[in-house]
This record gives sequence, structure tokens and C-alpha cells, in this order.
Amino acid sequence: MSVEGKERIITTHRLLEKKQRGEKIAMITAYDYTMGRIVDSAGMDVVLVGDSASNVMAGHETTLPITLDQMIYHAQSVVRAVKKAMVVVDLPFGSYQGNSKEALHSAIRIMKESGADAVKIEGGEEVLESVQRILCAGIPVMGHLGLTPQAINKFGTYTVRAREEAEAEKLVKDAHLLEEVGCFAIVLEKIPAVLGRQVASELKIPLIGIGAGNGVDGQVLVMHDMLGLSQEFSPRFLRRYANLYDVAKQAFERYVSDVKSGDFPNEKEQY
Ligand code: KIV
Repeated sequence: MSVEGKERIITTHRLLEKKQRGEKIAMITAYDYTMGRIVDSAGMDVVLVGDSASNVMAGHETTLPITLDQMIYHAQSVVRAVKKAMVVVDLPFGSYQGNSKEALHSAIRIMKESGADAVKIEGGEEVLESVQRILCAGIPVMGHLGLTPQAINKFGTYTVRAREEAEAEKLVKDAHLLEEVGCFAIVLEKIPAVLGRQVASELKIPLIGIGAGNGVDGQVLVMHDMLGLSQEFSPRFLRRYANLYDVAKQAFERYVSDVKSGDFPNEKEQY
């Protein structure tokens, strides 16, 4: 049972079994109750309350400005909606980098105040102590390697990571370390497909890719990107499953026109 008293169908153990059976894992981001309900009813395995909320919900250029309180607000809304999928919440920038005690405190706040199932944290060896401390408190942790958007000011660009041998070697080493300390899964963002396949074949835990090719154990996309709500963002890895920007804009235009012409509301639409 989760904190909210719901029987979650997808657990860390179930995800591991999926990998063992060669069954791919479907993960998507969500930030509110309404979309949480829709993605859960579509059979999603994992719903990520990503710090990409900073971009797609709040309109910031990076994920850095979003706060722990704001992440908890989004997580509470999603947890209220999701009955079957596992809900994972990002530890936002500034909520864990200070030291492992701060990381644990932030993770506990997320779990206690939102009722989520797990937290996600960006980085490898440099966050290992924090990951261990959070795990010791009984909180499942998902890792995140490759392009880690909270470090954008260090990278200077959102380009593909780990093309160079040294960075690829560090990524493989970090993935093994995260598995050894007990992470239940790792997100691999924007890395060469061959490297994604290699890491997925070396590790027992599931590797979930976003721009990491087809050789990993599952895929994650940002909801607004795959629904075509954000039009400017068009990386090669993104498949658009709808064009909701145009659908919504046309609906709003028709509404404006109907209000202005006096066509709405009609006889049947009033008391
Ligand atoms: O915040 C987010 O949406 C993420 C995904 C890109 C994996 O971390």
C-alpha cells in the first residue's frame, strides 16, 4: 500500500521482472491530476513528476528554478490521480547537492508530503553518498545519467553526451555504482544508442532511455513534447504522437469567435 492507501500495481520488483522477461517499460512525465488520470488509464508503467515542470509548466528556460515545494505540489496532484503506475519524483536542483543529509531530508519531504513511490536524482559517483543515505531510509531511488539537465551550466549545451571515450567510460562506471548501491532503475538521457545498449546489457536493473536508442529496457518522454504541445522543441529522439497545440488553438479560436458572434451559449446551453 502506498501512503495514499492505493494498491500500486507497478513496484520496483515488477519493473525488475519486466526486464528479466524482456518486456519493455513505458514511462512518461506528468505534473497534474487530469493528465495523471489519463496516462494511468493508458497503461503506463511509470509516471515521472519531472523537474521538466520548470520548463513546460512554469515556462523557465532550464530546470534549475523549480523548488522542492513546487515539485511536492505537482507530485501531490499526480499521486491523487495515479492508481496503477509507479510515481517517481525528481529531486530538484539545490535540494540534494549540499550534502547527503540535505538530500535525505528532501527525499523524505517528497515521500511524506506527496505519497509518491520513489525519487529520481541526477548524477553518478558525486551523488553516491546521498543515494545510499536515501536508500537506507527505505526510499527507492532511480538514477539519471548522460545528459543531466540540472548540470546544463557545466555542459553549456544540450547536445548528445558520452560520445568521447572518457565520458562513456565514466557513465558505464557510474551506472554500475548506482546499481551496486541499490538504485532500482536508471534513466539514460541523450547518449549514443550503442552505449545505451551496452549499459542495459551489463546491468540487471532496468535502463530507461530518452534519446538513448532502442537497446535499453524502456523509454521515457516529456508529455508536452510527445503530445505536440511544445512546438519549438524538436530533438531527433522525439516522436510526436499528436499535435495538441493546433487542436487546442483551433478550439480556443472557435470559442472566441462563438462568444463574440453571440452564437454561444445557444438556447439549449442556458437555464
Ligand atoms: O524532468 C524530466 O522530465 C526528466 C526526463 C527528461 C527523464 O528527467
